[in-house]
Amino acid sequence: MSNLLLADLAASGVKQIPSGYIRPITDRPNLSDVQISHDAIPLIDLHGLTGPSRSLVIKQISQACENDGFFQVKNHGISEELIGKIMKIARQFFKLPESERLKTYSDDPTKTTRLSTSFNVNSEKISSWRDFLRLHCYPLEDYMHEWPCNPPSFRRDVAEYCTGIRGLVLRVLEAISESLGLERDYIDRLLKGHYVSINYYPACQESELDVTHGVRTHTDPTIITILMQDDVPGLQVINDDKWIDVNPIPGAVVVHVGDMLQALSNCRYKSLLHQAIVNCERERVSIASYCYPSDDAAIGPAKKLIDDDHPAIYKDFTYKEFHESMWRVKCSTAKRLDLFMAESD
Ligand code: OGA
Ligand code: NI
Repeated sequence: MSNLLLADLAASGVKQIPSGYIRPITDRPNLSDVQISHDAIPLIDLHGLTGPSRSLVIKQISQACENDGFFQVKNHGISEELIGKIMKIARQFFKLPESERLKTYSDDPTKTTRLSTSFNVNSEKISSWRDFLRLHCYPLEDYMHEWPCNPPSFRRDVAEYCTGIRGLVLRVLEAISESLGLERDYIDRLLKGHYVSINYYPACQESELDVTHGVRTHTDPTIITILMQDDVPGLQVINDDKWIDVNPIPGAVVVHVGDMLQALSNCRYKSLLHQAIVNCERERVSIASYCYPSDDAAIGPAKKLIDDDHPAIYKDFTYKEFHESMWRVKCSTAKRLDLFMAESD
């Protein structure tokens, strides 16, 4: 097994999942327990944000963040044409010859542009069934020159997508701030930008799909994450203590509550526990855009949300402190924020 990247291992026609991808029984996706709950998933029409129904949409967002930790949105301003273009370029990138893709390969997580595989190849014992291309993209002109220039329209198409995502992020963050009763620009003021992870999950030639993950169970270290999926199902989230499938809705994108929003909302909104599973027939591509705060942004609970009935659950900390602890402290991602709990007296 000499391949650095999973795409090449998968393309070599392996008939069985190599042992390095097989999770211990206690750590498997448990697909038999997954509920099919298609219509329980909130689909919010953002069109209403610009008219008299704004307060209704804000309420829907507030309920979804509070009860579910995620929602899907339509009429989000990213055109179908652009979605088609970005998905096509993503697929084309992962089909380039190995030597071409490897030009961007790195296992150094501090690199702002890198292709890698699984989750964190330096620290994990069992691999996940995924390759990913991670690109910092804000401001665009600081990073675009690092991005792959093959396929030839890669930089142009991804930049156009990032610009669309930036507009969507700002609108959603304003709505989320308002939904918490904060000034409209409260969260925008903390925001630095976003980076994208273009995820490639090759088809997995194995009938027992339970034995491996596309991405293992985790929360995102973000304010919010915007996930664009192609038409192949794979995303699962925890909802009411049960796993449910978030099947793709054409043209819609998924918005996840991340760890930073959990902290600044004083746990009113909870960071979403999610995972991706693999598909035995079709490869899958998803594009996650992770919105993160500036290094020195104060991430503790917003003062307006704290009173005698709602004591601060977290102390004040900066994004830099959180980010550094992510690499230093080994714990499940769902426990990361516990390091920043307020001292109780
Ligand atoms: C991620 C992620 C899920 C998916 O990249 O953080 O959770 O469905 N991806 O690809
Ligand atoms: Ni994620």
